[in-house]
Amino acid sequence: MFTIIAAIGKNNELGKNNQLIFHLKEDMQFFRAKTTGHKVVMGHKTWDSLPKKLPGRENIVVSRHDFEGPDLIVHDLKQFISENKDTDEEIFIIGGGTLYFAFLPFAKTLYLTEVDASDEKASTFFPEFDHKKYHTEIIKKGSENGLNYAFKKYVKK
Ligand SMILES: NC(=O)c1ccc[n+]([C@@H]2O[C@H](COP(=O)([O-])OP(=O)(O)OC[C@H]3O[C@@H](n4cnc5c(N)ncnc54)[C@H](OP(=O)(O)O)[C@@H]3O)[C@@H](O)[C@H]2O)c1
Repeated sequence: MFTIIAAIGKNNELGKNNQLIFHLKEDMQFFRAKTTGHKVVMGHKTWDSLPKKLPGRENIVVSRHDFEGPDLIVHDLKQFISENKDTDEEIFIIGGGTLYFAFLPFAKTLYLTEVDASDEKASTFFPEFDHKKYHTEIIKKGSENGLNYAFKKYVKK
């Protein structure tokens, strides 16, 4: 089963210049707590944006190329999805935009940190989705450096 985890702005902003837009300590802690011990799947650009492999997690990178570093490189995304979508194991999709778009139809759960801010320079966005098709739970609200945010869990009905 696939679970999406992302931090998004008011206009679904995800990133700019191949980096994150929002840097919230509590969001990093939330991300680490949710994903540690699990497989994490990311696009090549997101992998390139990381300073190092995410510890305590199997780092799976989707790419058409081969390179050193990840635990696994997936070349055939369709095959990976069909082989893993019905498993009981929770596999986290951690971005970026192209991966969220590809996995959204197959993800039962979305953890979205919704940040009450926008960035005109954003270049990557979370895909639009129909909120009515999900049960929504607000896990927690918070504020850091003047930025308000809410951790939300969406589960497909
Ligand atoms: N806010 C958040 O929660 C969050 C989370 C993660 C990332 N981000 C941000 O998102 C941005 C990166 O996102 P992005 O959408 O530009 O890139 P991305 O999804 O991270 O990576 C795109 C790359 O993944 C590979 N790929 C994608 N689909 C594929 C397919 N069907 N088959 C084979 N390979 C495939 C390709 O790599 P090759 O070119 O090697 O083939 C493609 O260039 C950054 O700014 C990052 O900081 C934000």
